Amino acid sequence: MNKTIMMSIGAALVLATSALPSFAVDGEDVFKKCRVCHSIEDGKMKVGPSLYGVVGRTPGTLTGYKYSASMIAFGETGAVWDAATLNTYLTKPRDLVTKTKMIFPGLNDEVTGEADRLAVIAYLDGLDD
Ligand code: HEC
Repeated sequence: MNKTIMMSIGAALVLATSALPSFAVDGEDVFKKCRVCHSIEDGKMKVGPSLYGVVGRTPGTLTGYKYSASMIAFGETGAVWDAATLNTYLTKPRDLVTKTKMIFPGLNDEVTGEADRLAVIAYLDGLDD
């Protein structure tokens, strides 16, 4: 392969890479995976509890929702839904709350998982500002 061809392949690669979308993730978009089961309206329960104001809440304590014994027990350990705890839970719910009735595998895709988790946590955190 001659040098000119090599250089134009190089230039094409640079162009192609810069045209890729950035990996900024929209938390509201990620929440589409949650909203079959969760409302963001204050006090509105679906299959799961309302997630309005969940950041800072003690697990299993929203009045009017019937939690699993496992989730209530988790809250009684003194746990709080801060960003770190939510990040762990949303990676693989059953690893943190063994018998949770939240039937969701987790946002644990190797490539996008962490960005998705952080984005949806920031989105939830912003709801009650
Ligand atoms: C298939 C239904 C379903 C999906 C999808 C789902 N959840 Fe849940 N979620 C539940 C249920 C049911 C509970 C109650 C768990 C329990 O009591 O063990 C719950 C509990 C929770 C809790 C604890 C709330 C509290 O008051 O202690 C958080 C936080 C949560 N879900 C976040 C999410 C997020 C964020 C997503 C999307 C990435 C999501 N869930 C997707 C059903 C679901």
